[in-house]
Parts: sequence; C-alpha cells; structure tokens
Amino acid sequence: MSALKALRASILRFAGDRSAIYEEDGLLVIGSDARGRPVVRGVGAYASLAASYPGVPIEHLPGSIIAPGFIDLHIHFPQTDVIGSPAAGLLPWLENYTFPHESRFADEAHAGEQAVFFLDELLRHGVTSALAFATSHPASVDALLGEAQRRGVRLIAGKVLQDRHSPDGVRDETEQSLIDTETLIRRWHGVDRLGYAITPRFAPSCSEAQLRGAGELAARYPDVWVQSHVAENLQEVEWARKLFPRSRSYLAIYDDFGLMRERAIYAHCIHFDDEDRALMRSTGAAAAVSPTSNLFLGSGFFDFEGADRIGFKYGLASDVGGGTSFSPFHTMLAAYYVGREGRTKPGVSLSPQHLWWQHTAGAAQALGLEGVIGNLQPGCEADFVVLNPKATPLLARKTSQAASLDELLFSLIVLGDDRCIERVEIAS
Ligand code: GUN
Ligand code: ZN
Repeated sequence: MSALKALRASILRFAGDRSAIYEEDGLLVIGSDARGRPVVRGVGAYASLAASYPGVPIEHLPGSIIAPGFIDLHIHFPQTDVIGSPAAGLLPWLENYTFPHESRFADEAHAGEQAVFFLDELLRHGVTSALAFATSHPASVDALLGEAQRRGVRLIAGKVLQDRHSPDGVRDETEQSLIDTETLIRRWHGVDRLGYAITPRFAPSCSEAQLRGAGELAARYPDVWVQSHVAENLQEVEWARKLFPRSRSYLAIYDDFGLMRERAIYAHCIHFDDEDRALMRSTGAAAAVSPTSNLFLGSGFFDFEGADRIGFKYGLASDVGGGTSFSPFHTMLAAYYVGREGRTKPGVSLSPQHLWWQHTAGAAQALGLEGVIGNLQPGCEADFVVLNPKATPLLARKTSQAASLDELLFSLIVLGDDRCIERVEIAS
C-alpha cells in the first residue's frame, strides 16, 4: 500500500444534500489511487479519526482551514489582459477589445507566455480546475493544456469555433475548424488530468454548417465537454433570433444542432423563459453563472429562483475577461449581490454554504465530475486550498467573532481575496 500522509486543521467539505460539513479540528488523510494520483482516503474529526492511522505523519496547521480547490466553470484563457476594458455592452466589447486581443494568439510564443501567467493566476487564487475557452487558433489549446499538463492541473479547454461575424485574425474556416477540433480531442481528451470541450463561441459567430459539425462531434465523443455562451445580452439575443428564425429560442438553437446534453456548459443563461429552463433540465446541460461579468458588461441578472424552481444545474464562473476577477471570493460575493437584486422580487438571499458549493462541489456536478473534484470526501482527488481566515486585520477581527459556520464563510466571501490563499495543493 502506498504511503499515507495527513493534515490536521479545520476542514470544510460538502454532503450530498449540498450542505457544508465543517470540522473545527479535523484530519484529512491522503493516499494515492491506482495511478499514483493523490486522493482523499479519510476525513473527519481529528479526535475520532487519528487513532485509525497510527504512524501516519501528520502536518499540523493550527488556525488554518482546508477546503476543496475552487472550480471556475467558465473562463477565457486569452482574456487575462482584457479585464477592465469598458464598453457599451457585450457586442462592442467583443469587437473593440476581445477580438483584437485574441488575434494575438496566432503567435505561439505569445500564447505560451499567457498560458504560464494564466495558470499562475488561477492557482494563486485557489482555483484548481477550470473549463476554459482558448482562441480559434489550435496552437492556443496546445499552449494551455501543455502548461496544465506540466503542472498536473485538471483543466478542460477547447479551440473556439467562429467561422462568421468575426474579423480577420480570429475567424476560422468551417471544414478546417472541425478537423482541428477532432485532432485536438484525440490529442488531449483524457490525457493525464486534461479534458477537451467542443467550443462554438456563440450561435451568432457560427454558420449552420459549423454548428452541425460541432453537434456531430458532440454525439461521436459523448464524454467530451461542450461549452458556449447563451442569452447573455438583449442585443445578442435579438441577433441570434434573427439569424436562426426556425429555432424556438436562442437556447433552442443549440438543441436543434445537437449541442444540449450532459457535459454541455452554457455561460450566462440570463434572458431565459421557463421553456428554456426546462430544456436545460431535460437535457442535463448546466449554466455557468458569471456574476462579475454580468454586472461589469451590464448584461443582466441570473435568475437563481427560476433555476431552482425548474431544477437545472448551475455553478459559478469568473468569465474573465468580461469578468473582473480571478478570485472565487469576488465571484461568490457578486453572485450574492445578483441574488439580492434578483429577477424576481423580493430577491433571494443565497446562503454562504450554497455560494461556496456552487464554486466547488456544485461546479463539479455541473461538469459531471462529482466525487472526482470539488470536494474532500473519500475518493476525491486531493486538490485543496489552505485558507488563512486572519489574512487581513479586518478579516482577523471579523472571523474571530463568527458564531456559526455561516458567519465564518460569509466573512471570507465578503472580505476575502487571494491574500487568504495560504497554500494550494494539486493532486498530481
Ligand atoms: N459571447 C461571445 N463571446 C464572448 C466572450 O468572449 N465573452 C462573453 N462574456 N460573451 C461572449
Ligand atoms: Zn465567456
């Protein structure tokens, strides 16, 4: 049997009913799976668990909190430098900032340098897994997944498909884009901890032939992910409806081309009706809720109440560079604001435990990776963060007064940032 090691600290994890389990004085025991990858072997209260592991070396981290690594359900690797670009909404933002930035990823040296910075930044913020857009250049996927492979990070990414309504430099060619996608699936999907996502940018940037080809690939490779954008902005919704008049709604376009299924993740999902929500539920697709982006670009407010009423899957995402921060704390706080404002009145008060779940175990469930990442239950891969709840004077003051788990988690969500991330462990 492989050697075990253990960490003693406060430990946060999640039960199957989404509630948090918190051990004030906990023990996390780590072993390795058949491939030698670190996995959680045991977790619980130190007092009840320690005797079961005699001789196992224990690292004691008093005052720290061990929690599952965060999962970012939707982020754009080439948009790190786009953060904070102001525009009058999504479409001018794409045209004036995003497409020019992404065109630079034709240069492999640029893509390589950006991949290093991007992964440094994700990990520095405690994000141990992500579902990421690359650019339309196949080499941008190689740059990102190659760097993730070197670091042992569980990352899923895809080459963007955009064969129309896109400027020179980012527009691809229909047939070649599908050949490139299949080549990349074969090169990367299931290699080490990496996954591939078929990535139509959004329906307005894809011809019918390109969407049809993407749908065929999604059927041929059922465990490959699909990612796109939908119903983010009212002008975009109107444009999509004009381009695809035969589809019932913007979301239904993706269904009509075979792109709605388990492991399909749609960013935003704001301007939905109940039929759209029911389509999300019946197909098993999930929403990547991106509140800092939606607030920054003035796109609208995700309807948490509507999603829970109909019952489709969703999780949290930064959507950098429409989103303004890599920090899961900032994203959770923005999700709270969006819930308070709400599409329905009065707004909802998302609980701190539910916000945290959406960025860890809930995001894993949306990806079909429940029990693999996003939690610290036995069998989960050992991706975790060590948090310092006293990272700033105000946090120290506030967390020391917390009288419940909800108060502790809320203090971190409202006041926390990368300064709280003391250490990040990757299961590699
Ligand atoms: N819709 C199409 N492309 C994009 C993008 O890069 N960011 C966002 N937020 N929405 C999009
Ligand atoms: Zn996006």
